[in-house]
Formats: sequence, C-alpha cells, structure tokens
Amino acid sequence: MEPEGGGKDQSASNILIVYFSRWGNTDYPDDVDAATSASIVPDGDGRYGTTEYIANMIANEVGGDLHLIETVTPYTADFDELRDVNHDEMGRNYLPELKESNLDIAGYEMVFVGYPVWAADVPQAVLSFLNEYDLSGKTVIPFCTHDGYGAGHSYQTIADASHAAVSLDGIAIEAKDVPGAQDTVSDWLADIGISGSQEQDVARSETAIQITIGDITLDGVLYDTPLAEEIKAYFPLTISMSGYGGREYYGGVDFYPENLEGGQKNFENGDITYCEAHHNMAIFYAQTDHPDLSVDVIPIGRVTSDLAVFENLDSREEITFSLAQ
Ligand SMILES: Cc1cc2nc3c(=O)[nH]c(=O)nc-3n(C[C@H](O)[C@H](O)[C@H](O)COP(=O)(O)O)c2cc1C
Repeated sequence: MEPEGGGKDQSASNILIVYFSRWGNTDYPDDVDAATSASIVPDGDGRYGTTEYIANMIANEVGGDLHLIETVTPYTADFDELRDVNHDEMGRNYLPELKESNLDIAGYEMVFVGYPVWAADVPQAVLSFLNEYDLSGKTVIPFCTHDGYGAGHSYQTIADASHAAVSLDGIAIEAKDVPGAQDTVSDWLADIGISGSQEQDVARSETAIQITIGDITLDGVLYDTPLAEEIKAYFPLTISMSGYGGREYYGGVDFYPENLEGGQKNFENGDITYCEAHHNMAIFYAQTDHPDLSVDVIPIGRVTSDLAVFENLDSREEITFSLAQ
C-alpha cells in the first residue's frame, strides 16, 4: 500500500520513517511470484516489502518522510544463501555500504526505524544507516516484521547504536499479519503517545526524563506545557507514591503549580499527571480501557519504557523524576 497523502512530499515534517526491506534490496528475477514469496506483499497493482508495508501504514497515520535504506550491492533472492550472507556479515560486524542519498537527518526530531528481523536482530544494513547518520538526541522508534519469533535483540541494538535521546517502545508484526495490521499499528502509535496530527507538536516539544524506583530506571518524556515546565523546576523530584486500584501510583507534592489548564477525567497508560484537587502527581500504568476518573488530572508527560514493572512494585515506593542524563 502507498501512503495516502502526507508521505514523501511532506518535506516540512520533523518525522522520518526509515526502513530496510528485502524488496528494494534484492535481485529478484522478473517473474518472482509475489503471491507466495515471503517478502513481498502484493496490493492492487503494487508490490511492497513486508516491512515497507508497515512503514507506509505509519506514514498514513502520522505523516512524515519515507526513506528506504538501500545497499550498494543487492542481496540474493535465495533465502538459504541470504541467511548465510547475513550470518557472515553479523559475525564480522560488517557494515554494508549504502547507496548515496541526499537525506538530511538533522531536520528530523522523531525517527521510526523499520526492518525485517534477521537472526533475532537487525540486518547489518540498518547498522550501516545508524553508523552513517547521527540520530543522537532524537526520539527513535523501532518497528519490525518477522516470521514468528519476534523482535529478538533488535530493539536494544537500535537503542544502543542510535544513541537516541528517547527510545519509544517498538512494534513487531508477524509477516502473515502485515496486510491487515493497520489497526494494530494505530493502537501501538496511540499507546506510545503518537496519534495523527497532534504528534508533530509533541515530537517537537518533549524533554527526556528518567523515573527511578529503587534500582529500576525508566525512560519518559515531559511535555512542553506551562505546567510541565513549572514542575520540571522541582526536578530531581522524589515523591512517596502509593499503588491504587491496579492502575496507578500517586503521591502528594509540596508545591502549588499555577498553570492548571488541560484537565481531563481519563488517561492513557504511561501518563504522568498532576491533579489539582488532590494536590498530587500520578503515573498511570493500566486500565486505559475504562479510564473514568472522579477528578481532573492534567497530563504533563509519560513513561515510555515498558510499564510491566509497575505490576510488581511494593504498595508504597519512593519514585524520583529527573532529567535524562
Ligand atoms: C536472513 C533472514 C533471517 C531471518 N531471521 C528471522 C528471525 O530470526 N526470526 C524471525 O521471526 N524471522 C526471521 N526472518 C524472516 C523475516 O524477518 C520476515 O520474513 C520479514 O517479515 C521480511 O520482511 P521484508 O519483506 O521487509 O524483508 C529472517 C529472514 C531472513 C531473510
């Protein structure tokens, strides 16, 4: 599928969707059978790489510019040979040369990085890209397709190799589910706090933070809102927080913010909020499905790491919010 609108010609975007796919990097014979070949998704008159298809779904949802990572030397169409080539490239930590491109990475603040999982990790061409282009200080979001074994080590590899300021949770979609994955992709984007048109403002304006609970450190972001700015002035901020209802940790603060616009009676998992009525802050981690609150909360940021850790905390925890190192 091609992205509907937005996409390539939206050059003012601060979002880049960069991806590697076998389609576009493989010497397929002219008569390759798109209907049965594992790495080609036929759609209408077009054929797309499996990962490319997801890249287009993301572009449909959030706009952004698409960029295919292309190696100078194409890969073989033979799966067994390709597996050996990849094994060899990984073993030597070989970085295949990429085709020249006029991609200017500096203008992007949020970079989605897509790839097929190869040997439980990223194809080396993705590492070539991360080596060649400076993603440090940016928000990086991995997405991948696979044949049933999931993302493997790839998210960690991307976080390490990109030196991202913020790594948001990735998504791994099994190749057979790719043609019908638009809803899954939309839900994931909403879960990590990116949806439709609002996303570009958010992307431009987040500050990376850390949330420390004992020896656990989580990543998060603080929004560029007057209230978040006010609260940021108290960082590092340690709050004694209590678990409540299997959905949140909350705790009182000893300052009285003045910028109190934007209250709401619902939340998304991961939201960090301030509540004027109870004079406290909270982290919500579960139950977005029925989020009715009795008082208004104002989102000031969100936790971007896996929220599962909140399921196993003590009923009361000292939680410290600080700016990311
Ligand atoms: C060399 C190679 C290694 C692979 N290794 C894995 C793997 O470790 N786990 C897995 O689930 N799928 C693996 N796959 C399957 C691909 O990840 C999957 O088919 C993917 O959706 C292809 O995406 P593409 O069409 O964008 O290239 C591998 C495929 C190739 C070619």
